[in-house]
Order: sequence, then C-alpha cells, then structure tokens
Amino acid sequence: MNYHTTANTLEHLWMPFTANRDFKENPRLFVKGQGVYLWTHKGDQVLDGVSGLFCVAAGHGRPEIRDAVMRQLDTLDYVPHFQFGAPPSFELARRIAAITPGDLNRVFFCNSGSEAVDTALKVALAYHRARGEGTRTRIVGRERAYHGVNFGGMSVGGMVNNRKTFGLGLPGVVHMRHTQLPEHKFVRGQPETGALLADDLQRMVDLHGADTIAACIVEPVAGSIGFLVPPKGYLERLRAICDRHSILLIFDEVICGFGRVGKAFGAQAFGVTPDAMTMAKALTNGAIPMGAVAFREGIYDTIVNSAAPGAIELFHGYTYSAHPVASAAGCATQEIYVQERLFERAAKLSPAFLDAVFSLRELPIVTDIRGYGLLAAIDVAPLGTPGTRGFQIMKQLYEAGLLVKMTGDAILISPPLVSEEKHFDELVAKVKATLQKH
Ligand SMILES: Cc1ncc(COP(=O)(O)O)c(C=O)c1O
Repeated sequence: MNYHTTANTLEHLWMPFTANRDFKENPRLFVKGQGVYLWTHKGDQVLDGVSGLFCVAAGHGRPEIRDAVMRQLDTLDYVPHFQFGAPPSFELARRIAAITPGDLNRVFFCNSGSEAVDTALKVALAYHRARGEGTRTRIVGRERAYHGVNFGGMSVGGMVNNRKTFGLGLPGVVHMRHTQLPEHKFVRGQPETGALLADDLQRMVDLHGADTIAACIVEPVAGSIGFLVPPKGYLERLRAICDRHSILLIFDEVICGFGRVGKAFGAQAFGVTPDAMTMAKALTNGAIPMGAVAFREGIYDTIVNSAAPGAIELFHGYTYSAHPVASAAGCATQEIYVQERLFERAAKLSPAFLDAVFSLRELPIVTDIRGYGLLAAIDVAPLGTPGTRGFQIMKQLYEAGLLVKMTGDAILISPPLVSEEKHFDELVAKVKATLQKH
C-alpha cells in the first residue's frame, strides 16, 4: 500500500496530544527506524532521544520481534481470551512474573498504560470488597502524576491540563502533594530531603479513615511531568503507611519498567515492593500495543476464591486482552532483554548519560536538571506563556535531527537502552546548540 503524505491527505486524522493545525501546516513524519535512528519523510536522519515515547528500549527495527509477530500472524491471528486462551500470553505472563519483585506473580493483560492503570484501580476496589471491606472505595493519587488518559487514570493523575477540560472525574479521589522541593534543583539521583511528604497519605487516613481507602498509586519516578525522582526514604515511608492501614500500594511502572531505571522495575531500583505494578511501554518494545498489571498472588487468590466455582470472578477485560500477536511480540522483546542484558546495560550506561546531560547546567536558559537511570529532564526558562518556548525547542531539535518529548518547558530525554556513549554526546551537542540560540 502507498501512503500519501501531501498536506490534503493529513486532514482526516485527529492527532493525539498534538497542536493539530500547526502540525498539518508543517508535518513531522517518520518513515523509517533502525537502531537508535529514525528517518523523516524528507530523508533526514533523526536521533531518537526518547525511545519513541519511552517504549522502544531495544532500538528500532528488531528482526527478532518482527519474526515472532509474523510467525504468530501466520499461525493464529486472534482468539478471544474470555473463557478461552492461546499459548503466547501464558508464556509472556510467566516471563513477566519471573522479573517482578516478591510475589507479584499474577499478570492481567490489556492494551495500554491507561488501561493498565484503570485495571489496577478496579482490581483494588474488587479486592477489598472480596475480603469484606467494601467501604474502601477512595483512591489516593498525587499532584503532578501522570497515569494515562482514561477516567480512572485522569482522576488520580495530577497534571492540570489533562484534567480540567473533562469534568469531575472519579468521586472519592484525593491527592498527596508532589515531591519537588525548591532545594532539589540540579540534584542528580534521589534528593536527600522530602521523605516526610509521604506522610500526606497518613493525613488522608486521619481525615477520611483508613476503612474508606482502597489504594495509593504513584509512579516510582514521576515521568511525564519531567522525571521527579523520589526523595530518599519516600517510597519506603509510603509502603509503611500502606502496611499499617491495609491500603494497597500501586506503582505505575509504565515508564520505569523494563530496565529504564537500571533494574527490571522501579520497585527493585528503589527497593520497595508494591502490591500491584502497571506496565506497558517497553513491554513489546513499542512494536504492538500492550499493557499489563502484575498483582500479588494474595490479591488474585482473594478475588478468585470469593466467587462460586465455575463463576467468572472478575467482570473486567478487553477484547484484545492477551492478544496472541502482542504476546508474541512481548515474548520476543523479553528474550532480547535477557540475551542482551539490557537492564544491566542501562545501569552501566547511566553515569555517562547523566554526566552528559548534567554538563548542560551552565547554560543560562537551563533552570533545573533531574535524572535517574536512563531518564533525564532539562527545564528551560519559559518565554511568555508557559510551554511556548518548549514547543519551539521541540521543533528546532527535530530540525536539528533529535527527537525528544516536551512537557511544557521541560525537555524529556530517555534514550534506547542499546545506545552507546557516542549517542549521548551527539544528543547533548544537539540540545546545547539549540538552547544556545535562545
Ligand atoms: C506512568 C504512566 N502511566 C500511564 C501512562 C499511559 O500509557 P498509555 O499512553 O499507553 O495509555 C503513561 C504514558 O505516558 C505513563 O507514563
């Protein structure tokens, strides 16, 4: 099939999280990807500084994934997973359980991070109900969080533009304060101060009563807002409060998962085991949409054993849950991670990556830099309306041959785990040259 890309063939698509009118006047299209590089429709080479959108951890164009997908399509394209199944999803669940911490060994599949979050929230409510505490319906989120765009994730999320247009959201959601303190500027890794902010959860308990609270959801590193690394002791403190009051702790690992923070998940990087973990982005290396939630065995057992034998235990699932082709892509991706030891590689590359990014701190326009693992964010001083300069910089970087994600005036960088140090030099040189023009 030929895909046309002249201006009047672009008008039918309503693009997500995009300035549609601006884009259609001057489109930025990619037509090819290989390794850490992409190529535009004009033939220009672009360094992928953000792994697509934090998902292409093993680099673009992996033949192992293509082959697994093709084989699966040739053999069995689709079967429902409501009351039936197919082998690839069971194998992928087994592989995920092997790298999750503790007994987070029961895996539910969906198609995106947003669905993973809503699945985790619904299961939290169902779990408490199954164990006879159906009054626990409140969910605690956090300011500046991003948990996707469905109503559950939007409600527990804390980024104003993602919320204010869309009504009131879920009832019974409360938010803790975010963890970004003024003294955290230019801190590399975990800040020393701020653990006490976890006591906001205790305040929710004191205000609403523990018996009304089902779960607390946080990203180990708050991602989309611009990588807020958790203060030392913060996640441990959240864990302790949750334990004290039988509140489920959910880590949204959609960005942190699969090596991004130098371990399989943020849970292991920060040494805190949650009760449920959402994941999506690097699960299939971005090749096929897929999300998942890993739950502690006890959560599964409680819900499953509360139903009569032969009855459906959880009235939740998606037509494409555990899709055979996505599962095949997932298995091939996980195999690459093991064979190439990419999580360890990310940990080894992290110091060089952070050195490179933090070298930009002397630029007058740069107001803060944060980083952990292979994640880094650079804040630039706003110019006029917040986000205007960020938008300009994103376009200039694209013209200069670098793909990044902008959130407002923050440049988010998250290179593929297969990157080499020379790619960090190339990336930083491009950012520097662009920022120096401002
Ligand atoms: C932490 C987190 N949760 C959920 C999501 C939503 O994922 P998706 O865009 O696949 O729905 C994202 C996406 O960036 C995310 O970063």
